[in-house]
Amino acid sequence: MASPVVVTHCGAGSTLEIVDAAETAGRAALSALDGGGRALDAVTNAIVVLEDDERTNAGTGSRLRIDGRAQMDASIMTEDLESGAVAAIEGVRNPILVARKVMETPHVLLVGADAVAFARRMGFQSHNPVTAAAKVRWKESLDRIRRGDLPPHARKWRDFRDLAGTVGAVARDSRGHFCAGSSTGGTAFMMPGRVGDTPIVGAGIYCGSAGAVSVTGHGEEIIRRVLSKSVYDLMARGRRTQAACDEGLRLFKKTIPIGIIAVGKDGAGEACNRKMAWWTNAP
Ligand code: GLY
Repeated sequence: MASPVVVTHCGAGSTLEIVDAAETAGRAALSALDGGGRALDAVTNAIVVLEDDERTNAGTGSRLRIDGRAQMDASIMTEDLESGAVAAIEGVRNPILVARKVMETPHVLLVGADAVAFARRMGFQSHNPVTAAAKVRWKESLDRIRRGDLPPHARKWRDFRDLAGTVGAVARDSRGHFCAGSSTGGTAFMMPGRVGDTPIVGAGIYCGSAGAVSVTGHGEEIIRRVLSKSVYDLMARGRRTQAACDEGLRLFKKTIPIGIIAVGKDGAGEACNRKMAWWTNAP
């Protein structure tokens, strides 16, 4: 029997003021593992808690696109390579629950209006995830675009420092099975239809028999480096989980916000080049 391990985070750049959200999510995950529960249910529970917390950039409270809409991405993956994801989904409360339903279909990823239609067919009610705080941040972003008040390196909307990222969770259950999940409202200054790393297997999450990895930060840069799979491959080749996370972080310039959480056979790992609210039960 393996000891259950959970790691959760509220996004690269999230302030430590919301570490209670990471802990509440982590404890919800652990309660699912009590009595031999599955890592899949643990990660699902954790991400539902984080999506429902309006202070995080996922589910209710998601960042808005430049046209004022909330389009959300989420994904989940287990060690037998089963995975489900949604991208640019709108009008649902918990994208991670829709992603989990996608897992039960022959497909891996559903996008946009068709992902919404699938959610409705599966019984997910209409929900407006746009909060007053998200509208304030959106107006600030539009003002900065109008003024051209962007850091030089953000001319292509890259490396933007005001990123408050994705939420994520990884878990190992008492049978030694793993699961990784992630959910996001995206980043600052997004065009409608933009999809980041979060719903892309290998980029935002990866899971296999060696462990589970979930990452946060600038999606385009993460996709280019296939970050979650890169960290996973190090673990599969025998690197300790913490060392694999540290090595993954070194793939990026420090100007690019990146956070990584992982759980492997030897325990938990976490690495971030910004402040990040995160939690684990591991020693
Ligand atoms: N990592 C979240 C995003 O770039 O969409």
